[in-house]
Formats: sequence, structure tokens, C-alpha cells
Amino acid sequence: MSVNRWLSGVEAPVSGVEAPVSGVEATDIKNIYMTITPYKNSKSGKKEQIAEMFDNIAPKYDFLNHFLSFGIDKSWRKKVIKILKKYQPKTIIDVATGTADLAIMASKLNPDKITGIDISAQMLSEGWGKIIKKQQEDKIELVQCDSESIIFEDNSFDAGMVAFGVRNFENLDKGLKEINRVLKPGAPLVVLEFSKPKQAGIKQLYAFYSKHILPAIGKSISKDNAAYSYLPESINLFPEDSLFLKRLEDAGFINVKQRKLTFGIASIYLGIKA
Ligand SMILES: C[S@@+](CC[C@H](N)C(=O)[O-])C[C@H]1O[C@@H](n2cnc3c(N)ncnc32)[C@H](O)[C@@H]1O
Repeated sequence: MSVNRWLSGVEAPVSGVEAPVSGVEATDIKNIYMTITPYKNSKSGKKEQIAEMFDNIAPKYDFLNHFLSFGIDKSWRKKVIKILKKYQPKTIIDVATGTADLAIMASKLNPDKITGIDISAQMLSEGWGKIIKKQQEDKIELVQCDSESIIFEDNSFDAGMVAFGVRNFENLDKGLKEINRVLKPGAPLVVLEFSKPKQAGIKQLYAFYSKHILPAIGKSISKDNAAYSYLPESINLFPEDSLFLKRLEDAGFINVKQRKLTFGIASIYLGIKA
């Protein structure tokens, strides 16, 4: 399969969590990813745990991101920006912006305003530090806000993007519908998210790396015992490929398609607000 080819909803291979599991309802399987949380003994819901986890790892997040991905994450983000360039958006929302890497990169598109939203105050604080350093305070704003209840009005933005965020939503469909609501009709949404490589050899290598090496390094550097075990677990059960394209369609996006990156370790999904 060519790495740079767009796959449409029909062509995209089905994988993820749709295999029937005895004793489990289809609707439960569809949303099984929601049950994956970082802190297994916590009584808090997924959203609170996710905010807590990212608050904990925020100071080390950028370093670990680039280190654990061998720096490839930067090239994936560049591809997101390249896709958006064609639309020449003047207003962009970066959902689950975290430490604002993608928002900062989007300033290359020369928009009037980039708005980054996130639920983790500490991630935003790290991001704001970088924005000040780059003197981009006039162009980029960061708002602490839940993607499942976005504070902006309907049809506010020319484009939307989410990098490594949707997998962490408590309610994926609610989040996607909210993003759709705040985009203008015809606006693109570009989603960058981890996926699972399917190619023999790469698949096993990646599984070993993500199950053993990544959690060990992540744990020792971030000092959060759970965060980097949650990462492969959440990737494993996330509805990827055509399952995700279907969720985009259900949320009100049309012309949905997927592009696989680096042996399918990550994917870019594109949809247009109808
Ligand atoms: C893996 S980080 C990605 C950050 C950034 N987009 C990047 O590419 O590095 C995921 C981010 O999603 C945020 N997040 C998770 N659920 C969210 C929600 N419901 N609303 C807003 N942000 C959320 C987390 O706080 C975290 O900062």
C-alpha cells in the first residue's frame, strides 16, 4: 500500500475493535475504547484522569514526544499543515492543542488567528511559554476548554485540526460533533492520530516497542507510572481506519479519507464539514 495515498471510506481496511466478543453488545464494542483509562484504581472518570495525566507529564511531554518517536512526529505534523495550506484558512482551531506544537506550526499558513483548546492547564501553560518565546501572542490564543463542550459559537472557524487528541476524548462522537459545530460549512478537519501497522515484521516490532520499551522509558522520564502504559493500550482499542472515517461521517463530515504515515504507525484523516 502506498504511504502517501488517500484511502476513502470504502477502500480503507477495517480494523480495530469490531470483532465480535461473546457476551458484549455491539454498542459496547463500538465504545470499548472509552473504558481505557490511565489510572486503573482511580474513581474519577476518563476525562478527569486524562487531564490529571497530562498535567503530570506536561513538563516532560515535548521531550518524550520527540524522543520516543525518533523525531518523526514533527514530520507528521508538517503534513497536517501542508494539507491545510490548500484551504488558506484565516481562522483555525487546534483541538487538544496540548503544548501547542501544531498551533505554532500553523502560523506558517499566515492565518489571522489560531485558537488552541485543551483541558489540561499544565499542557497549556507549557504551550504558552513557547508562544511567548516565539512572540506569537498576537496570533495564537490558548483556551482551557473541553472539546466535548466547546465555548465557541457555531460556524466560527475556517479549519480545524487535532493531533493525538481524539484517542483521549471521553466521548469521541460528542467531541467530533462539537468540532463540526464550530467549523464553517466547507471547512476541513484534519486529524492526526496513532494507528497500528499491519505489515508483518513491522507489526511485531512496533508491538514490542510500544508494549515494553515505550512504557519503560516514558515511566522513568515522566515519573508518571501509568501514562506511557495507557498510550499503547489506548492505541490498541481506538477505532481506526474505516471505523474512524465512519465516526467522522456520523459527526457531519463528508469526503472523509485517510492517509497512512510511516508504515501505518500514524494516520491522517480528513473530512469536510457538510
Ligand atoms: C497526546 S496530547 C496531544 C497534544 C498536541 N496536540 C500534540 O500534538 O502534541 C493529547 C492532549 O489532548 C488533551 N485532551 C484530552 N481530552 C480532551 C478534551 N476532552 N478536551 C480538550 N483537550 C483534551 C489532553 O489534555 C492533551 O493535552
